[in-house]
Amino acid sequence: MNLQLTRFVSATSYPALSQTGFVLCSRSRFLFGVSPITTTSTDVAYQAPISPDTTTTYGVDQVLTSCPESNTLLDICYDWDRVPVPSSLKEFEKRWSNRHTPIDYSGVWRFRELFPFAPEEKIVTIGEGQTKLQQANVAAKFAGINAGNLYLQYEGLNPSGSFKDNGMTAASTHANMVGAKVTACASTGNTSASLAIYASVTGLFRCVVFIGSGKIAYGKLSQALDYGAATIQIEGDFDDALLRVREVCEQENIYLCNSVNPFRLEGQKSIMYRVLESLQWEIPDWIVVPGGNLGNSSAFGKAFMELKQLGLIDRIPRLAVINAQGANTLYQLYEEGGLRWNDGRPDVVKSDTFYTDMDEQNRRASTLASAIEINRPVNLMKCLRALDVCDGVVREVNDEQILDAKATVGAGGLGCEPASGASLAGAKLLREEGVIAPSDRVVCILTGHQLKDPTATVGYHTFNAKDKENALVKRGITQAQFTNRPTPVPNDLEEILKVVRGL
Ligand code: F0G
Repeated sequence: MNLQLTRFVSATSYPALSQTGFVLCSRSRFLFGVSPITTTSTDVAYQAPISPDTTTTYGVDQVLTSCPESNTLLDICYDWDRVPVPSSLKEFEKRWSNRHTPIDYSGVWRFRELFPFAPEEKIVTIGEGQTKLQQANVAAKFAGINAGNLYLQYEGLNPSGSFKDNGMTAASTHANMVGAKVTACASTGNTSASLAIYASVTGLFRCVVFIGSGKIAYGKLSQALDYGAATIQIEGDFDDALLRVREVCEQENIYLCNSVNPFRLEGQKSIMYRVLESLQWEIPDWIVVPGGNLGNSSAFGKAFMELKQLGLIDRIPRLAVINAQGANTLYQLYEEGGLRWNDGRPDVVKSDTFYTDMDEQNRRASTLASAIEINRPVNLMKCLRALDVCDGVVREVNDEQILDAKATVGAGGLGCEPASGASLAGAKLLREEGVIAPSDRVVCILTGHQLKDPTATVGYHTFNAKDKENALVKRGITQAQFTNRPTPVPNDLEEILKVVRGL
């Protein structure tokens, strides 16, 4: 299973779009304090470690998940002086009239000048990113935020039903650029569904997905199976699966599609572009997002930092990352342990000690929000940077809070899976603490579709606290505030009518 590498990206690959209102701009070349391009690349896009102490950069033709020299995560960086970026975000609206062209139809690639790492002919798209920002007054009331000020960003409307497609279109594009024929990921379910759909729709590569046993919601497992992914169910959880898939990819030269792949996060930046677009390019006060492997939060921070440095926005919203209480590594390290980005030199002794203790005590992640049941978030350091850039906060919410928030989203809108409920539960908590004001404009990201985890939804609505066998009770949930129970009725018209008339 050899991957063929081809080097081809050069400045000339990118069409100048000045005639459509996009201009080649002259702006600060280097974001994040990353050092200038060294010998490795004269390309518009290149890979650079997030550590300010390493100056080596790598071409975008290389398949890397960390900097071989510093062992830190990699960013995709751009020589913005040579990129045709728009003079205003409003320019992107011109693409709306060109929806018959797949890359303009895509809610990700229609912003391609903001992550120009791929020549257009290599872009892999299946129509992702047709998602919706919806004003949500039922949710606003629940959270204690003024009517009209709370918005839900429904990323469950993507082709595979989760936000992952934003990133997978970018990773698939890069896989296509380097000629990868086999791809892989570890997953709590959504990444595997997303990778599987890109593999099956495009036929460009095969895919192998690693999942923990008993750790994946059926909606997601059914997708991977249906789309034809080779599915490896290992004994263990997501953290174990990710460790193994990284080893396997390394040894077998398989293209890894987890969010340690820096190209994936480039696509996930587009969630923020669409939020701004829906708000007619106004900046909200808060973005609230569930935190698992911390890819989204990292991507959002990078998006806002770049937009600000490019002069396309004048302020950055605050970021709230919400952990499930049973998988709260970020919360513990950031809020309780005081771990900070510290200009790219975080106190790694703190995180190393935390993980050593975790291993010694054999603490495993445990939450009903299985999508974010993760104890070792691979993007921790990038997330610290995002929290720094966005003046962020981290909170934890328990499964009961998550499920009540999820039911509220469902009752007032298009619904979401449990992990997504964490964002509304987190917004409510931050409002109660007075961190979010009732008049703040708040956007909660709903990361996955309601149908992903029907077991959790039906379990909630039929909740019975006395039933000791109940999965929710076993997880310490004592009540469900917003249940909508089915009514059992004999198969008899009169009996049925009695019930219907009493509604
Ligand atoms: N919400 C949902 C629905 C998810 O599937 C995930 C992650 C997250 C939130 C967390 O996002 O990692 O960017 O902080 N799911 C991964 C998976 C781990 O394998 O599907 P993050």
